[in-house]
Amino acid sequence: MTNETTISTGFDVDAIRQQFPILRQPVHGDRPLIYLDSAATSQKPQVVIDSLVDYYTTKNANVHRSAHYLSAAATNVYEDARKTVAAFIGAESPECIVFTKGTTEAINLVANTWGQANIGKGDAIIVTGMEHHANIVPWQMLCERVGAELRLLPVENDGTLALSFWDPLVEDGKVKLLAITHVSNTLGTINPVAALAARARKRGIVTVVDGAQAVAHVDVNMDLLGCDFYAFGAHKVYGPTGIGVLYGRRELLESMPPWQGGGAMISSVTWEKTTYNDVPIRFEAGTPHIEGAAGFAAALRWFVDLDHKALRRHEQEILRHMVDVISQIDGVRFIGTAPVRTAVVSFVVDGIHASDLGTLLDQHGIAVRTGHHCTMPLLERFGVPSTVRASVACHTTHEEVEAFGVALQHAVRMLR
Ligand code: ALA
Repeated sequence: MTNETTISTGFDVDAIRQQFPILRQPVHGDRPLIYLDSAATSQKPQVVIDSLVDYYTTKNANVHRSAHYLSAAATNVYEDARKTVAAFIGAESPECIVFTKGTTEAINLVANTWGQANIGKGDAIIVTGMEHHANIVPWQMLCERVGAELRLLPVENDGTLALSFWDPLVEDGKVKLLAITHVSNTLGTINPVAALAARARKRGIVTVVDGAQAVAHVDVNMDLLGCDFYAFGAHKVYGPTGIGVLYGRRELLESMPPWQGGGAMISSVTWEKTTYNDVPIRFEAGTPHIEGAAGFAAALRWFVDLDHKALRRHEQEILRHMVDVISQIDGVRFIGTAPVRTAVVSFVVDGIHASDLGTLLDQHGIAVRTGHHCTMPLLERFGVPSTVRASVACHTTHEEVEAFGVALQHAVRMLR
């Protein structure tokens, strides 16, 4: 079947949808599921689900430990996944990729290792005003521990960064680290990370990028971005939950002390002294999420095979359509209207609680996120406690956006 989207963007969304079994499952009895919550977690194509079953059916063993056949097979799966991730983001080598539980753990790793070793009393850290709590709280905790200062790069009314604040923030030479999201999970804003990382580097400032919301929607290449650390989770890019990565420039990773202690991360242990393994294993204490790595690699292989130009066009058309249907609501206010953004739309409606809208939309089978989206300081800046957020994936159709618009009108009428 060819629909309007295929004709206008060259992106065959029907063929994509057939690969996601969960989209065929009705909710609340007989409602077709309209999943507009991919920024919270993406749904998984069949190949990713199959890779998990295949791993446990044919390869399950622990990695880096035993000499037997299955252990070698599991180690290959795990280390091949590291290579797949490195290639996906254009990292200089697989050794620059540390597996973590997800984006949050990756950022905490940097704060507790590079940060702890290099940031001290009187130093400063810049975070932007649109960070997820995962890229605020670890830096606040570090500042409290070492006596450093947290500085804010604010957000303009349209949801872009107020870049004119950069020079005054850095001119005293105290800033050691910039923590910035590549794409805002609440606003969809795509930040000029490459330009800011270049400005930071000129002053010897290390850049840590939260890439969680970027990897499924914009091209991510370490050479082009020029950042020092980049964190993201597999589950935002059609892979499993519970696994993510920290990319670090090799010389930085090699300079960093370990964080969590345990098996695998050591080179030798005696009662007198422990020596540590090389990077990246130095930062991977304990048995890792091996089947997660298998699923992560399957997801990336599947994702890179899509026609990305057509996919970007499709998502941008869906964004325009979504903004259009939401604009029909009386008293609507968009939170985030940056000119360069991904297909994430946050909004509030006068006199109606976001959570009530979310509950009514759910009764129509429509999944959105409501609340503060783990960005409380950002919502405070916009003077709202919560928003409704609709977020798009490669499988979102114009028909779904139309149905969302109708359900939204209906919900607003009921709540007024
Ligand atoms: N960070 C995820 C979101 O934005 C959970 O929904």
